[in-house]
Amino acid sequence: MPRFGIISDLHSNIEALGAVFTRLEKEGVDRIVCLGDVIGYGPDPEHCIDMVMRRCELTICGNHDEALMRGAQDFNPVARQVIEYNRRMLKPSLLSGSLKRQRWKFLEGLPVSHREGDFLLVHGSPRDPVHEYIMKTDGIFIPDKIRDIFDHFEGLCFVGHTHFPGVFTEDLKFHDPPALDYRYEFKGEKAVVNVGSVGQPRDGDPRASCVIVDDDGVTFLRTDYDIATTQRKIYDNPNIPDLCAARLEIGK
Ligand SMILES: [Fe+2]
Repeated sequence: MPRFGIISDLHSNIEALGAVFTRLEKEGVDRIVCLGDVIGYGPDPEHCIDMVMRRCELTICGNHDEALMRGAQDFNPVARQVIEYNRRMLKPSLLSGSLKRQRWKFLEGLPVSHREGDFLLVHGSPRDPVHEYIMKTDGIFIPDKIRDIFDHFEGLCFVGHTHFPGVFTEDLKFHDPPALDYRYEFKGEKAVVNVGSVGQPRDGDPRASCVIVDDDGVTFLRTDYDIATTQRKIYDNPNIPDLCAARLEIGK
């Protein structure tokens, strides 16, 4: 049975990304796709871009990847500071070598969505692929928003962006992975599946998140990684606010 891995929101965290690739390979996936936000927040944007270019069959554009090109005016001050730092690091000049150019070209050319059979892959949501957040409480507080989102796709829609894994079903309910026992079986109904974040989980579980998709359903995985090393690199880097390190160990 073909199985593929989906990762998202790596946010320059190479320790988390390396652990997730090792895990997915051990699980025997045929291929891996990425739903964006390769850069921002963390200490290793270049390594993460290189690893994704090498090992992901497809990468979708995230809002941080887009902000690198178009500006981060609408970002909070912490996120903006790191994007501006990433731009200084990554943007090629006349004298830059080919790898630097290749990384920039890769990020510049990322598609905002991808349709594959019954699956739609985006970073944020089917109606605003790069920017819109689908929050777990939207089904309760803004039910019309979720109804409209469900009208914008057929089959299954895979997203990242909120850094909060889980499944929205057509009855407007959000199911987080522990409530699903980390497995969602396809039932022929529409669903929005959030794969969570590799590099900066925000659901209270600090382990890196990703999913494996097979013919029958989605399995949610959490993988331990060397959080202390990532934190140390951030504390040692004057261009990245300390908050980006502190949050990693609590998964918030
Ligand atoms: Fe993100």
